[in-house]
Amino acid sequence: MNILFIGDIFGSAGRKIVREHIGHVRQAHGVDLVIINAENAAGGFGVTPPLAEEIFDLGADVLTTGNHIWDKRELIDYLKSVPANSHARPRRVLRPANLQPGLPGYGVYEGTTESGVAYAVVQLQGCVFMNTTNDPFHAADALLAGIKAKVIVVDFHAEATSEKAAMGWHLDGRVTAVLGTHTHVPTADERVLPGGTAYQTDVGMSGPYDSIIGVDKDLVLHKFLTGMPGKFEAAKGNPKMCAALVTCDPLTGRASAIQRIMLGE
Ligand SMILES: [Fe+2]
Repeated sequence: MNILFIGDIFGSAGRKIVREHIGHVRQAHGVDLVIINAENAAGGFGVTPPLAEEIFDLGADVLTTGNHIWDKRELIDYLKSVPANSHARPRRVLRPANLQPGLPGYGVYEGTTESGVAYAVVQLQGCVFMNTTNDPFHAADALLAGIKAKVIVVDFHAEATSEKAAMGWHLDGRVTAVLGTHTHVPTADERVLPGGTAYQTDVGMSGPYDSIIGVDKDLVLHKFLTGMPGKFEAAKGNPKMCAALVTCDPLTGRASAIQRIMLGE
């Protein structure tokens, strides 16, 4: 079974480059499940319902997000528009599971692929150098106790390399993959851990690489050079699609391979 996980779509440049490549990558690798982190799809800040629909139209099965989940208020009604047991698109947009209890949306989705394989996608957010959340490690333990699927993909949206590496080892042998998002720079450490969990510290952004992690570089440089606040806008130049391709046994959920993908124009 092949799982394509596409890293953080950033702005229109990110949406365009994913649209350009997703079809041939899916076909070339016989992809069974597509997961896309979409938290920066709307100009770098959050995702709107129409953009979520647009990304589902490209072939995504599940969308993950992160700390920008609440940036577009209209997404809240979209998340609330379906019950927990729904398989409709709004139910397949995840927010971090370890936020304060009772918030809109869900941090886990359990579905079935076209070929009949049960899978789960889990979204967690890190605690280090991030807004306050509940401990993602114990949250992961609690969530896994309730998941029946063998194929489980975790999007760990976190800043610190150490916290991400720790989550990889914490979940090794218990999930199919732990894939990092949020830092927007792909790391060259993809591997299958000894217990059969595919791991990469950060899958990297799908967006404009002539930028500072997606944002117009002049605007960010101005902030660093002057300390003055300013409005950040998404860059456009040198778009690349970054993704991880995970191969696993659908019966056990254990990964056998992970491949790093970066495709430009
Ligand atoms: Fe983020």
